[in-house]
Amino acid sequence: MSKIDLKGAGFATTAIHAGHSRDPEYGALATPIFQTSTYCFDTVEEGGDVFAGKTSKYTYARTGNPTVRTFEKKIATLECAEDAIATGSGMGAISSALIGLLKTGDHVVTADTLYGCTDVVMREILPSFGIETTMVDTSNIEKIEAAIKPNTKIIYFEAAANPTMRVTDVAAIAELKKKHADIKIVVDNTFTPPPILCPIQLGADVVVHSVTKYLNGHGDVIGGVVVGTTEDVAKIRSRAVGKMTGSHQSPFNAYLIIRGMKTLDLRVRKHCANAQEMAEFLEKQPYVSAVYYPGLKSNGKNHEVAMKQFKDGLCTGMVSFEFKEGYNGKGAFENAKKFVNSLTLPGIGVSLGDPDSLIQHPASMTHANVTPEGRKEAGVTDGLIRFSVGLEDVEDLIKDFENAAKAL
Ligand SMILES: Cc1ncc(COP(=O)(O)O)c(C=O)c1O
Repeated sequence: MSKIDLKGAGFATTAIHAGHSRDPEYGALATPIFQTSTYCFDTVEEGGDVFAGKTSKYTYARTGNPTVRTFEKKIATLECAEDAIATGSGMGAISSALIGLLKTGDHVVTADTLYGCTDVVMREILPSFGIETTMVDTSNIEKIEAAIKPNTKIIYFEAAANPTMRVTDVAAIAELKKKHADIKIVVDNTFTPPPILCPIQLGADVVVHSVTKYLNGHGDVIGGVVVGTTEDVAKIRSRAVGKMTGSHQSPFNAYLIIRGMKTLDLRVRKHCANAQEMAEFLEKQPYVSAVYYPGLKSNGKNHEVAMKQFKDGLCTGMVSFEFKEGYNGKGAFENAKKFVNSLTLPGIGVSLGDPDSLIQHPASMTHANVTPEGRKEAGVTDGLIRFSVGLEDVEDLIKDFENAAKAL
């Protein structure tokens, strides 16, 4: 079996090789798909020993699978973490992390701008189980500190928030742990995956991803992952994924994700470069009143924090922009709809991080299940459009946008 030493290796090399040991029987280069629900033991005694924790072996695919394990090891390495547990979706990862680490009576300080379903989990689902939540602007450290209570167990936020791209300073929040050692910092890193950001390097405890997005990167899988210490991941694996949520990942999806991650470095850099160009283009358009992209100097504090914590000047492939109220005598929402309906390259749809550009209207799509007050707090206006910039030639995207603007 070939053994590759990844000590000191660069990100692209690590993304290709981490977690993978070449199949000892046939030498297969690609990770084999272990499509099995259960695993057999040689004897009842062996089975008993494994279940008693005396020896270690796979038992049942809800709690572990070799193909899935390859993905878990790969993402743990890339996120500079000890371990990872893969899940069936990003929401599976988020709910498993919360169920695994919290109990009734605990309190969570969470961002007031979140992906729509996470917002509902924070505002409605956790409180229905007796877990209190306080939603604050996590770009403001004083507000976070003021919201901390004796029973606060988690501070939760998206590194770049969906859909407003508000950037939260991970290292500054990690400083709070000096005074509040038993609080865990949980970061949704979906919009800013490695090589952009490794929150654990900056002091976060747990990272969650919708693997559906940049990590898989091809728009053909729903998946999630929780990354963290051996202890936290073991708790989430046994308490949540193994017993409660049952949100394990399928081996076939893990195979596709592993394949997608081999080009993670190339893809993410190109997504970011295209997004930067689109953001700069949009900023100059007369029908746009604001562009939310941390790579723009006009984004003030967001830009400063982004340049400090994101690597190699990379930001994200996501750009949000606001239509100007009253442009050509029309309302912002009316113009937003007309514009998006006139585009030909981007698909009108939710999700992101695919080679194909995707565009959507958060107020009526990804954030439709958030209350109107919640949307207002989060800055999700009716004139806001979220654009997942794909891997097309950026000149073609700009041409498409110029043509769509003729409809306004
Ligand atoms: C930031 C963020 N986190 C989590 C999720 C949920 O992921 P999934 O759709 O894989 O459950 C999404 C989905 O869009 C998201 O944008």
